[in-house]
Amino acid sequence: MALLIRNGEIVTVGARVQADVYVENETITRIGRDLQVPPNAEIIDATGKLVFPGFIDPHVHIYLPFMATFAKDTHETGSIAALIGGTTTYIEMACPNRNDDALEGYQLWKSKADGKSACDYAFHMSVTKFVKETESQLREIVADGTASFKIFLAYKNFFGVDDGEMYQTLELAKRLGVIVTAHCENAELVARLQQKLLAEGKTGPEWHEPSRPESVEAEGTGRFATFLETTGATGYVVHLSCEKALHAALEARLRGVKIHVESVLPHLLLDKSYAERPGVEGMKHVMSPPLRAKQNQAVLWKALALGSIDTVGTDHCPFDTEQKLLGKNSFVNIPNGIPGIEDRINLLYTHGVKRGRIDLDRLVDAASTRAAELFGLFPRKGTIAVGSDADLVVYDTSYRGVVCAKSQHVNNDYNGFEGMEIEGRPSIVTVRGKVQVRDGKFIGERGLGKMLKREPAHF
Ligand code: URP
Ligand code: ZN
Ligand code: ZN
Repeated sequence: MALLIRNGEIVTVGARVQADVYVENETITRIGRDLQVPPNAEIIDATGKLVFPGFIDPHVHIYLPFMATFAKDTHETGSIAALIGGTTTYIEMACPNRNDDALEGYQLWKSKADGKSACDYAFHMSVTKFVKETESQLREIVADGTASFKIFLAYKNFFGVDDGEMYQTLELAKRLGVIVTAHCENAELVARLQQKLLAEGKTGPEWHEPSRPESVEAEGTGRFATFLETTGATGYVVHLSCEKALHAALEARLRGVKIHVESVLPHLLLDKSYAERPGVEGMKHVMSPPLRAKQNQAVLWKALALGSIDTVGTDHCPFDTEQKLLGKNSFVNIPNGIPGIEDRINLLYTHGVKRGRIDLDRLVDAASTRAAELFGLFPRKGTIAVGSDADLVVYDTSYRGVVCAKSQHVNNDYNGFEGMEIEGRPSIVTVRGKVQVRDGKFIGERGLGKMLKREPAHF
């Protein structure tokens, strides 16, 4: 099937041109002005609209057994929500815990997505322990096309690894050429602070942030950087939330450590006062690292504008009101996570580009191109070029709306960004040339998404 997207303003990193994009058999085959196409080609008029490469969310949780419950989305609901928001590829954290077998876990995560996702997807494989069989299992997983790992320095006794396991994972990753993503918080300090606060009768969601202060994240980030330096591996700090941790990462980068940084939508737009709201309203805004003091946001936006923060993901992780109430007697039992997969691009465009915090070039880079480059998807994904997959977002900058849980497609009964203004939305979203979304509605093929196989590149 052939598709012509006519006369839009194509935005890629370093270039903006008015042109047509022609797609045959899932791939972009021509870009130019006034392209002549066969009469049976589907034609979409993009006059007055922006045309972006399909956006990539490098950090989502879809299937996630965590904190005595399960995140709410399936690949069916999560991928449709992603597509409506302009995300055409996501990378899910495959997260077996310490008691699970890694290879069985990997197969389980794959089986949850297989034939279900409406957008393309890949996995970061979590390494949650390092035992005799770990090396051979990870080699098998990398050979299967999953060329990135995830480690958690937090979540002691569940996902968390100790320093020895972190060293072994990074040392193997260096040999395999695999990038390692990391949740950087000091697990021991979090556990001690949680006990101390609870002993003082401090049980509400407002105590979540004080139990994992900025220094605890900065320590984790600095330690991860030191281990990267020692092993020579390439690392990627996920959901970096505050100035102190940013300093730790950038200071390491300055001395030559191969360290990349992701921030996520909640830390850019929400601050700790949301988690300080009484009762379940506060619980809805509990994630880790926690929402921070507001002054951190300006620092994160600045670093994002400069490209010092590489990417913006969501850490999409939906738990509904009832699940959040598991922590009504103690903040340590509130399932951690804030969803955002559907709103990332519209909120970044509105509160980033339109408010003058980042330019369009950075939007495309941080929300698509750089993730593709770091995670072995470029140039198949992350750009608009002849030969690339025809994942395209025709973006209507005249749309006006507000974020609203009632109309969302994410499987959840609230939205952490409720009421925020939106000044733009995708009018057309394609996955490999197939129109999956038109004017905010999913009109495409469920189960169209493929698992993307990636080669190691970080030697
Ligand atoms: O609070 C969060 N971030 N929940 C999901 C698990 C994780 O740490 O990424
Ligand atoms: Zn995390
Ligand atoms: Zn996460």
